[in-house]
Amino acid sequence: MSNYHIKHLEEYYQIYRKSIREPENFWEEVAEEHFLWRKKWDKVLSWDFAKPEIKWFEGAKLNITENCIDRHLVTRGEKTAILFEPNNPDEPAQHITYQQLFERVNKMANVLKSQGIKKGDRVCIYVPMIPELAIAILACARIGAIHSVVFAGFSATALLTRINDSDCKMVITSDGSYRGAKTIDLKGIVDEALESCPGIEKVLVVKRTGGNITMKEGRDMWLQPLLDEASKQCPAEIMDAEDPLFILYTSGSTGQPKGMVHTTAGYMVYTAYSFKNAFQYRENDVYWCTADIGWITGHSYIIYGPLANGATTVLFEGVPSYPDFGRFWEIIDKHKVNQFYTAPTAIRALAKQGSEMVEKFDLSSIKVLGSVGEPINEEAWHWYNDNVGKKKSPIIDTWWQTETGAIMITPIPFVTPTKPTYATLPFIGVQPAIVNEAGEELKGNQVEGRLCIKFPWPSMARTIWRNHKRYKETYFSTYKNMYFTGDGALRDEVGYYRITGRVDDVIIVSGHNLGTAPIEDAINEHPAVAESAIVGFPHDIKGTALYAFVTLKDAGESRIHENLRKEINQLITERIGPIAKLDKIQFTAGLPKTRSGKIMRRILRKIAEKDTSNLGDISTLLNPECVKEIMDEAL
Ligand code: WT7
Repeated sequence: MSNYHIKHLEEYYQIYRKSIREPENFWEEVAEEHFLWRKKWDKVLSWDFAKPEIKWFEGAKLNITENCIDRHLVTRGEKTAILFEPNNPDEPAQHITYQQLFERVNKMANVLKSQGIKKGDRVCIYVPMIPELAIAILACARIGAIHSVVFAGFSATALLTRINDSDCKMVITSDGSYRGAKTIDLKGIVDEALESCPGIEKVLVVKRTGGNITMKEGRDMWLQPLLDEASKQCPAEIMDAEDPLFILYTSGSTGQPKGMVHTTAGYMVYTAYSFKNAFQYRENDVYWCTADIGWITGHSYIIYGPLANGATTVLFEGVPSYPDFGRFWEIIDKHKVNQFYTAPTAIRALAKQGSEMVEKFDLSSIKVLGSVGEPINEEAWHWYNDNVGKKKSPIIDTWWQTETGAIMITPIPFVTPTKPTYATLPFIGVQPAIVNEAGEELKGNQVEGRLCIKFPWPSMARTIWRNHKRYKETYFSTYKNMYFTGDGALRDEVGYYRITGRVDDVIIVSGHNLGTAPIEDAINEHPAVAESAIVGFPHDIKGTALYAFVTLKDAGESRIHENLRKEINQLITERIGPIAKLDKIQFTAGLPKTRSGKIMRRILRKIAEKDTSNLGDISTLLNPECVKEIMDEAL
């Protein structure tokens, strides 16, 4: 029986029903047939959402890199595993075969071991989108070290918070990084962060830009000479199914980011299975996901999912606008990309350039288009469909989260009829529920509420690093016996899901998940600021942009507001990174508060959205008078 490649809608429903009725049998078959195990499991699933505790394939032993690399060597040794496209189009692309990847990962793994890294140690990887990033990740997995990748666009403060939260022993970084016309001094950022990271013993530095950097004696080492010395054989560490594979941080509603912990076997099985089906990947296809590996999308759908299937996965160092806005289309043409996966914010930015840029290139290789990160608006969907897919390539609008590890709701291309702005149907094995505020499940179609998942799936995060209590509170305490996603959703008359957006204090800007709290904390650090509140407002390219309402300690603050605005954004850049910069900052005498002192973001959101016709009852506020002033002076 091959459940592995879904071919038509009837088959989807048939497999879906089986995966729901007999989840253990279903996933056991997938796991048996398509992966390499050192030892099979004793039990497929045990779970308790009240604790919460979830275990898949308990008792099994494996190494994910043997599944992503070693087992392909016989049949795919000379096949390109990673196709690296550099930032600069004049620099040649690199085709790294599975055989070469095997050797490079092993060498790297041996370097890690020689520098004292052991199974279970945490290694922070702060490397731009170059092959060494993928190699470092896989090398950690090879020896059972837990990788914690931090997006190389994050600031020193964001980096050090993450390093310290998971007690990393080592940082892997590069001298610098290229992003379009810019060169970024990555090592300088690491040096600044490490002033406050006492646990870091070693820093390995990849040479990329050749920039001027300082190396700290005894701590910092160039990677290449160590690799040159290392053996290309490194036996894989045999891991338990539930051993942590990696930690990846995501924003939450407090300042402290949440270190989501993903484990080995379930994550592997589900990402591989979903990759194959959601993208309808076939042998010899060239697949490209434009996300950064610093996000979950890159972990699951640049590295683990594709490599577990022996796929060719493109790794692009640059940005869509360099050297011009034709770059994505040029790369698709150059490498004959078959599956292309990107974010609505990129689609909107590219659509703004008109279709001429697209028409210069031959995109006939494209079979499937994907979208991820935020709801894709109708206009962007049609532009993507008409100009990139030429109306013949299905768009899969894939809904999922860092926490879910892999795609949860998506059309299956050529199988599920698509509908703009709808993520459509649950993926195999996924049991969504829409609940009302009282926590009652709304059964049947044409309902709207909050999106929950009522049964475990193999790639779900198992905990928050050293904070299981927060894991339970955030995801399993709002509604009994269900995982709460934080998103709102509706189910239409045929059972298709549409994600309506976050219902908590997280704002998605250009597809980046930003918590309001850390940004407000950064603003409040400014000595002139008394208090602040952040909300989102609609933005052409970013989807949602940030609007801050700020009160000052000294209402008669003499400095002009423009300077203050710059200083506040500077602080945000330092504390979080440029992605969290504010588009609008309104200074106001007061913020609307409830009698218990909670800021009423709902009102501020309406004002920011310029939709003040129905503000609701504001008479119960502690300070209703401030609302009119805020409305009159809204930006
Ligand atoms: C949040 C998760 C999934 C990897 C990238 C983001 C929003 C994501 C969609 C989509 C509507 C989406 C949700 C979700 N989101 N994809 N196709 N349609 N919303 O991962 O940073 O953990 O963010 O992104 O609000 O909860 P993340």
